[in-house]
Amino acid sequence: MNFLLLILITSIFYNTITCNELAFVNIGSVNVLKDGIEMYKKTFFLPKFFKSEWKLSASVCRSFDLEFATLHTRQEFDALVPMLRNNSNLLTTWTFINIMTLTPLSATDWYWVSTQRKIDYVIPWCHYQPDGEVEWCMSLAPAPGNTYCFNDHGCHYPEPFLCEKIESLLS
Ligand SMILES: *[C@@H]1O[C@H](CO)[C@@H](O)[C@H](O)[C@H]1NC(C)=O
Repeated sequence: MNFLLLILITSIFYNTITCNELAFVNIGSVNVLKDGIEMYKKTFFLPKFFKSEWKLSASVCRSFDLEFATLHTRQEFDALVPMLRNNSNLLTTWTFINIMTLTPLSATDWYWVSTQRKIDYVIPWCHYQPDGEVEWCMSLAPAPGNTYCFNDHGCHYPEPFLCEKIESLLS
């Protein structure tokens, strides 16, 4: 009886520790600055073996105790690029991030859905993007020069997607 209990407790503990690592690859972290102060540590995760359409990605991230990723600052984007480069085996041509326009008649006003805040840095668009009149979800795509760029993308395509975990650095 005690032995079974031990197995039960161990497996619950084991799941808590390793659930993310079984399904996702931790591709790296960045300490995000605001006014020169480190505000929070953001860690990015890519799914090891599954894809999702945009509208389900947030739920999938959340079910693993993560959030669908945002790139609120240019610093986060710049830190992410080499992480993606190092994990390109997990990516297809597109990778979803949590972003879409709330104004379906405009291809220029892009918001983070989670905060409804407009992107407040110059968007590093891919060449000839945005180009879609019905492409309301934002993705990252590989670009020449071993970098990544932003692309408007159809929301319904199953794609790899980016999750994040945020830990405050303020005491
Ligand atoms: C990318 O991989 C190289 C070689 O393993 C490593 O030195 C570097 O720190 C990695 N970069 C990032 C951003 O993880």
